[in-house]
Amino acid sequence: MLIQEHEVQQVPNAMMNMLHQDELEVINNFYDAIKSKDIEAADELFGQFLAEVETHFKTEEEMMEQVAYGDAQMHKNDHDAIRKKLEKFKKRWDVLKGPTEVQGFLEKDFKKWYTQHIAKWDTQAAPHLG
Ligand SMILES: [Fe+2]
Ligand SMILES: [Fe+2]
Repeated sequence: MLIQEHEVQQVPNAMMNMLHQDELEVINNFYDAIKSKDIEAADELFGQFLAEVETHFKTEEEMMEQVAYGDAQMHKNDHDAIRKKLEKFKKRWDVLKGPTEVQGFLEKDFKKWYTQHIAKWDTQAAPHLG
């Protein structure tokens, strides 16, 4: 398990909490496959992981757009920063299938980004969104 439920801050928006909760399960399944070097499972779960992240980001971005939320662009920029990294690591994975590199990224980079993004940007936006 990469991220425990209590490490993800609850935000004052039920829809967003649901997105995070659904995603967390996929993140942890993917991480477990990477950590155990189960290449076949990791390969399948990598796609699921990216799809879940994109659903999460897109939904929040649409919610922000609907209410013309003032900090929408800055929030989206923080999504885009990790989108770029995910894209880079997915491309490398497709060629190298190297679980050690992905494990390092998830542990050192992604986990910190994820918990901090929710604690800062999502928490700030949550009360303004429908
Ligand atoms: Fe979020
Ligand atoms: Fe967000």
